[in-house]
Amino acid sequence: MRRLSRRGFLGVAGGVGAALALPGCASLLGEVQTGQLLRSTAKLPRPFTVPLPIPRVAKPSRRTADADFHDVTSRVADVEILPGTRTEIFGYDGTFPGPTIVSRRGRKTVVRHVNELPVPMVVHLHGGHTPPESDGYPVDLVLPRGYSGEHRHANVGHVTRRERQYAYPMEQRAATLWYHDHRMDFTGPQVYRGLAGFHLVHDDEEDRLPLPKGDKDIPLMICDRAFDEDGTFTYPSRDPALESKPGVEHAYMAGVLGDVVLVNGAPWPELEVSATRYRLRLLNASNARRYRLGLDPKPGKGAPFVQIGSDGGLLAEPVRQEEIQIAPAERFDVVIDFSAFPVGSTVTMTNALADAKGTEQVMRFRVTRKEADDSRIPATLSKLELPRPDQVRVEREFRFGRDDLSHHQTWTINGKMFDPERMDAKPKLGQVERWRFVTDLHHPVHLHLDSFRVLRGGPYVHGWKDTVDVRPGEVVDALVRFTDYAGPYVFHCHNLEHEDMMMMAAFETVT
Ligand code: C2O
Ligand code: CU
Ligand code: CU
Repeated sequence: MRRLSRRGFLGVAGGVGAALALPGCASLLGEVQTGQLLRSTAKLPRPFTVPLPIPRVAKPSRRTADADFHDVTSRVADVEILPGTRTEIFGYDGTFPGPTIVSRRGRKTVVRHVNELPVPMVVHLHGGHTPPESDGYPVDLVLPRGYSGEHRHANVGHVTRRERQYAYPMEQRAATLWYHDHRMDFTGPQVYRGLAGFHLVHDDEEDRLPLPKGDKDIPLMICDRAFDEDGTFTYPSRDPALESKPGVEHAYMAGVLGDVVLVNGAPWPELEVSATRYRLRLLNASNARRYRLGLDPKPGKGAPFVQIGSDGGLLAEPVRQEEIQIAPAERFDVVIDFSAFPVGSTVTMTNALADAKGTEQVMRFRVTRKEADDSRIPATLSKLELPRPDQVRVEREFRFGRDDLSHHQTWTINGKMFDPERMDAKPKLGQVERWRFVTDLHHPVHLHLDSFRVLRGGPYVHGWKDTVDVRPGEVVDALVRFTDYAGPYVFHCHNLEHEDMMMMAAFETVT
């Protein structure tokens, strides 16, 4: 396996081991990036010169009366991300993003994942309401054929060789889910190299709404990367072979930020649109970067974005948003009406949380033609039955912080490092619980198995959430009711460097 070059980041780190570059002002401003910037040394394209790729929709290899079967092979591939250069990726079916898997509520989806990578992998369906054996517990490794490397906690994990079948019952609402690597200690570098894809769930309720559909329903996976001169992804792994030492160089402990914004794997792409409504499924698949998305110019009247969905599917009613602030792993389903812009004009999706040249822009839309539009955004989208505070039976508190444990600094939950053998909570299925998250810095907190209701106010917590961006020094309550499946799951910070450096905990749902 080719090693990631060190050149690109040593220059920025200013000497590894220097004072940890945590954004100390984060608690004052509440909005700064959590992480350290890596600068690309590659020649970068001019923004908006690459067309937006739409990830291929996976075709089932087999269908039965009640299930769709898919085969996906993870492998190393050489792809063109920066025009004229090749980048080695880890890709589901050799692509980045991976193929989009489409499910229908009530029809099982079974994905056989084959590992032809040089490293162990774990596949997690983020937002999936999934039985434990298919959820991608971080030590349930799929080893490459013939892999002889060591792996920690081999005793607890259900380890398979070469392949594993993940079965998703898909008893869940229509929503924008995504799948990504979840290997213990190495999720950050493996997702960074490309192991991420969309998984969309549709249902009858959503089908009945007159929302934009077909080629006007577009998933947008936004993530940042840095590129070395030769096109290689730059990532400051402590162990670039991804074998033993987890985590990143000390200077990057707060998170790895790149200076190139990719959408669906292309740098600052452009999409030609008609002057009609589009439904855009925004996903922040970055390791650590958060964005505050806007449009430039803004439409003459009305808000730039109408939010119709969140992590867990449709909202009860549409919400007008001037901007969308999106943390790692969050999804915002929005409608943009391009009829507000003249044919021939361009509209840039901007990022108000830029910290480096290049990160102030995400992509651009070019309005090329008029077209009939029979889509609408109805005033009522869905009926949500969110849990209520008066239903709470159990309260738990989790503090997300940093500690000096085992001779180096790690990120912790309640002062403890992740241990897949230790269950930090045993929630009873069907019961409403209040999980209180308390932070030092900014942490996007994610629970597996079920979505929750965020009790804090604010514009970005509507509907069912599975990830909540807990601001520096904040206390946020989430109401959650775990249902259906008993067994071990995890919750963690979705800043992937924090996750790899132990900011994760296990819980076991019980009957
Ligand atoms: Cu998107 Cu446990 O992860
Ligand atoms: Cu998840
Ligand atoms: Cu964190």
